[in-house]
Amino acid sequence: MDQADNLRLRLVDRPPVVEAPPEPLRVIAVTSGKGGVGKTNMSANLAALAARAGKRVLILDADLGLANVDIIFGVKPMHHIGDLLQPGVSAMDVLIEAAPNIHILPAGSGVQRLTELDRKEKLRLVAALDGLEDHFDLVIIDSGAGIGDNVLFFVGMAQEVVLVLSPEPTSLVDAYAVVKVLSQQAGIRNFAVVINPVVDEMPARDMFQKLSTVTGRFLTAKLRHLGYVPRDENVHRAVMAQRPVVDLFPMAPASRAIVDVATRLFSEPAPQILEGGMKMMWQRLMREAEVPRKDGNHA
Ligand SMILES: Nc1ncnc2c1ncn2[C@@H]1O[C@H](COP(=O)(O)OP(=O)(O)OP(=O)(O)O)[C@@H](O)[C@H]1O
Ligand SMILES: [Mg+2]
Repeated sequence: MDQADNLRLRLVDRPPVVEAPPEPLRVIAVTSGKGGVGKTNMSANLAALAARAGKRVLILDADLGLANVDIIFGVKPMHHIGDLLQPGVSAMDVLIEAAPNIHILPAGSGVQRLTELDRKEKLRLVAALDGLEDHFDLVIIDSGAGIGDNVLFFVGMAQEVVLVLSPEPTSLVDAYAVVKVLSQQAGIRNFAVVINPVVDEMPARDMFQKLSTVTGRFLTAKLRHLGYVPRDENVHRAVMAQRPVVDLFPMAPASRAIVDVATRLFSEPAPQILEGGMKMMWQRLMREAEVPRKDGNHA
């Protein structure tokens, strides 16, 4: 038997390769009521963990005008999302590679005009993102805090929301306001809650219970608990070193907690999209932005 026969035999013996259908794009927004509770760090670290698992991740920095995801990855963008409003600038021109498997769509820092975009302009930005969904498995939207127009618009693009709150009564009240507005005005039904930074776990447990009880009583929103992240000086050290803490200090208490959070988040499939479409965030907005589809129809 010669070499060719051998190869033929091996090929015939081998079971047919069944390609798994491509997974639908998953879009997760990270938001909060109160500012400074750790959204950007959570976004960057979730991205780092997903990328490590082989996902192609896009971080959309939606804190327009006050961007800082790029700082956590130590990259210096040349462009920002607002440049997409210029004729001839494409999303590919604006994206920056932050790490293997991670790209950032930067939001521009100190660009006040970006905080004042009207809905038409935001839709033009989204229209410029058409086609990007084929290049990524996961989009993480790092939003600003609160319930302003930009937050509603960008978080409204997601299938699910990671809601970060700190273990303080003010944060609890603001988190309730966010769930209320996002569920009633942006149709978001699924919220995954992370409490950060936590010194003592008991009051943090109590916070989730309280939030869950009031939202269950008054709102049509589903909350699930992702976990607590301890206050850990290594987070600050990692920011100073411009690296996600899960990469720089994988054994640090905060890193271990973030790994648990990510495991809980990603082990459940993305929630069913209410409108049935797989790439709904793009499709819904493309429809509104009237971007013609490849088949000639509107999205
Ligand atoms: N678990 C933690 N332990 C210690 N420090 C933390 C922890 N999480 C976040 N921090 C610190 O808190 C600060 C705010 O974090 P971050 O920028 O991620 O918050 P944010 O919610 O994105 O803020 P903003 O609302 O301004 O966008 C940073 O200085 C960060 O280093
Ligand atoms: Mg932030």
